[in-house]
Amino acid sequence: MVLGVGAGIAAYKVCGLLRLLTESGHDVRVVPTEASLRFVGAATWEALSGAPATPDVFAGAGTVSHVRLGRQAELVVVAPATADLLAKAATGQADDLLTTTLLTARCPVVFVPAMHTEMWEHPATRANVDVLRSRGALVVEPATGRLTGDDSGPGRLPEPEEIFELVRRFSWRASAGGEPDLLRRRVLVSTGGTREYLDPVRFLGNRSSGRQGFALARAATVRGALVTVVAANVSLPHPAGADVVRVETTEQLRTQVLAAAASVEAVVMAAAPADFAPASVSPVKIKREGGPPPSLELTANPDILAELVADRSGAFPVVVGFAAETGDATGSVLDHGRAKLARKGCDYLVVNDVSAGRGFDRPDNEAVILGADGSETVVPRGPKDQLADAVWDVVASRLGNP
Ligand code: CTP
Repeated sequence: MVLGVGAGIAAYKVCGLLRLLTESGHDVRVVPTEASLRFVGAATWEALSGAPATPDVFAGAGTVSHVRLGRQAELVVVAPATADLLAKAATGQADDLLTTTLLTARCPVVFVPAMHTEMWEHPATRANVDVLRSRGALVVEPATGRLTGDDSGPGRLPEPEEIFELVRRFSWRASAGGEPDLLRRRVLVSTGGTREYLDPVRFLGNRSSGRQGFALARAATVRGALVTVVAANVSLPHPAGADVVRVETTEQLRTQVLAAAASVEAVVMAAAPADFAPASVSPVKIKREGGPPPSLELTANPDILAELVADRSGAFPVVVGFAAETGDATGSVLDHGRAKLARKGCDYLVVNDVSAGRGFDRPDNEAVILGADGSETVVPRGPKDQLADAVWDVVASRLGNP
């Protein structure tokens, strides 16, 4: 693997990424640009990778290193990808070892941009990103947050662990021949469990961890999608590449989902919104002393999935629901799933059996994806990534070619 390093302060975070890559068994050759060595020096890259790290095209001239590196690489990751590097890559410039390597490489390429918001949003950078994506490179959307100075906005390098996750999945998918079949598609995923407050410190909640939704976000990003996640009370790190909106209550989830749904082609409702909320919320903490225990009166929350289906115009967005079910005297898990699919009117319903503690807060899952067209896709027990890919398989085939 070639790890190209551009001249941005975020280069220091890439030391952590390099460590994760080498510790997971990758043979990494770091290729820094000359200017990037002002942020992190060659000695650091060489010590962490155990290989020479030079920007100089003439350093290994005897072995024609500017061609050899690109030919031998099975994956090239550029992090941080500066505005300058994106421009050079998009226009095929080749004035150092990294840019010559990018021209000679025929393997999958991942760019992880980091720069100030103005540079990222400039039409020139947007056009360069478009060119690189149209050539098959994965250009990861930067995270939003604090930048180097006092400013904040889109432009941060995602956390090294999350870049590593994305790179791992991307290389795995590319080696299995997977296409970027959601290229530039805007998709929305809701995840986590909502809270309904009784007073300023107590709430009714549920066991949803948000893992499946974050796995859906990563899987869609790897397939080229532009992903928004509305996450209710999820304590996991943000998936790299996704725009994450954090919410707490069902009403907040509803507002954010309905707003974002207007500009996407697919919505996957993996969230577990509370069906009921306390009829009244005490503005002060309910005290133990001073009377009998309070009894709870509940009111029904809106059904966001049903609203999405009712609101959509034409064919879009494709709407996927999730249903955690247990079988009972009135029917099996799948019987309940089929009835729910018909009742909700969505295009697909991912039905999983949560009896005996299955499904919640665990790394694996199994499900059946029921389609309104009568299709049934069985996804055997496996990592939540596998179920995520199975969901995007049905969505991508439904959306067809971009
Ligand atoms: N859902 C929703 N709004 C709600 C409740 C659920 O949008 N207030 C969505 C979930 O995100 C999920 C799907 O509806 O995609 C099914 O959720 P589930 O809780 O199984 O459905 P319910 O209609 O609440 O049915 P049940 O009576 O089985 O809880």
